[in-house]
Amino acid sequence: MRRVPTAVLISGRGSNMAALLAAAADPAYPAEIVLVLSNRADAAGLAHAAARGVPTAIVESRPFGRDREGFERAIDAELARHGVELLALAGFMRVLTEGFCTRWRDRLVNIHPSLLPAFRGLDTHARALAAGVRLHGCTVHLVRPGVDEGPILAQAAVPVLAEDTEASLAARVLEQEHRLYPAALGWLAGGLVRIEGDIARIAAPGAAGALANPLPGPAPLSTTPAER
Ligand code: GRF
Repeated sequence: MRRVPTAVLISGRGSNMAALLAAAADPAYPAEIVLVLSNRADAAGLAHAAARGVPTAIVESRPFGRDREGFERAIDAELARHGVELLALAGFMRVLTEGFCTRWRDRLVNIHPSLLPAFRGLDTHARALAAGVRLHGCTVHLVRPGVDEGPILAQAAVPVLAEDTEASLAARVLEQEHRLYPAALGWLAGGLVRIEGDIARIAAPGAAGALANPLPGPAPLSTTPAER
């Protein structure tokens, strides 16, 4: 089986990157991570990747100022050097230009910590709490030029609990991110994704359903008053 040479783009912690590296450590996984690229030299994920023998590169965005195309040309040069064919954004905190998104169309995926199309952008967990939603989660999607837009490959839902803080909700979602991203990237690399307009169809068993955490506690729609 030919594995698709894939780069993971990060800006920080890199826990999703680590989940992808762990999945790709299996030679049967259809994507091979050939490069971890960061726009920040202090991204913690870089050391984790290097410790696992994965090549790393740093392309700082700061020297390019507002020249986003120049920054992306420098990224593209690194990707070409490593023969990259598929790109996974994992906490990469730069908005990509339309040109870049078009060049990598249907070969560029992102993970976003909300159930899109709800809560595009930043601070998703705080905004979910402020909105009082009962379900929250994460989405893996193909990237289109609009921020956090593009065909959805997979979603995982988690309950929002009355006592949740931003941190506790983020941790619950993150656990699901680490399950979801390797699965979705594997479908894409394995040729199981067919794009029909704005919809991604997945030809993998079980892929049609979202992942959902079991709800803790009593039946969620019980009419019995809670004990005081
Ligand atoms: C994750 O919550 C991801 O959904 C978002 O940025 C965060 C990155 O975390 N895009 P990590 O660097 O993967 O730990």
